[in-house]
Amino acid sequence: MNGMVVKNMSFKVGQTLTIVGVAKPDASNFSINIGPSENEFTFHMNPRFNAHGDENAVVCNSYEGGNWCEEVRQGGFPFQLGEEFKIIIEFSPEEFLVTLSDGSQIHFPNRLGAEKYSCMSYDGDARITSIQIK
Ligand code: GAL
Repeated sequence: MNGMVVKNMSFKVGQTLTIVGVAKPDASNFSINIGPSENEFTFHMNPRFNAHGDENAVVCNSYEGGNWCEEVRQGGFPFQLGEEFKIIIEFSPEEFLVTLSDGSQIHFPNRLGAEKYSCMSYDGDARITSIQIK
């Protein structure tokens, strides 16, 4: 991982996590992960400019016990090479709700069902400039 891991975060139901960053000029993809530990991603979000056979798609999934689960592909693709992006994430015991900068949304099941997550990480071809929980 070339990004960053936050292990002692407190992201709770009812709060909003806002992530601002800039995609690298030659970005292939980057990911944002939220879960109960470093090795379990209850929510993995992977904007793909050109990666894993996808072009301009946001692929979401969860990673539990060493396995990827079922993917969800929703929302638009308001990401541009070399440009700033903003991702807004909220969650309930039922689902994660992501709002992208074009107003499109992604509904992803909260498969673990937790009401608080302590670990967030990001990786890949983006520079994260701000992370805020409110
Ligand atoms: C895989 C990729 C993982 C993750 C997963 C999501 O192809 O290697 O990084 O994005 O898809 O389902």
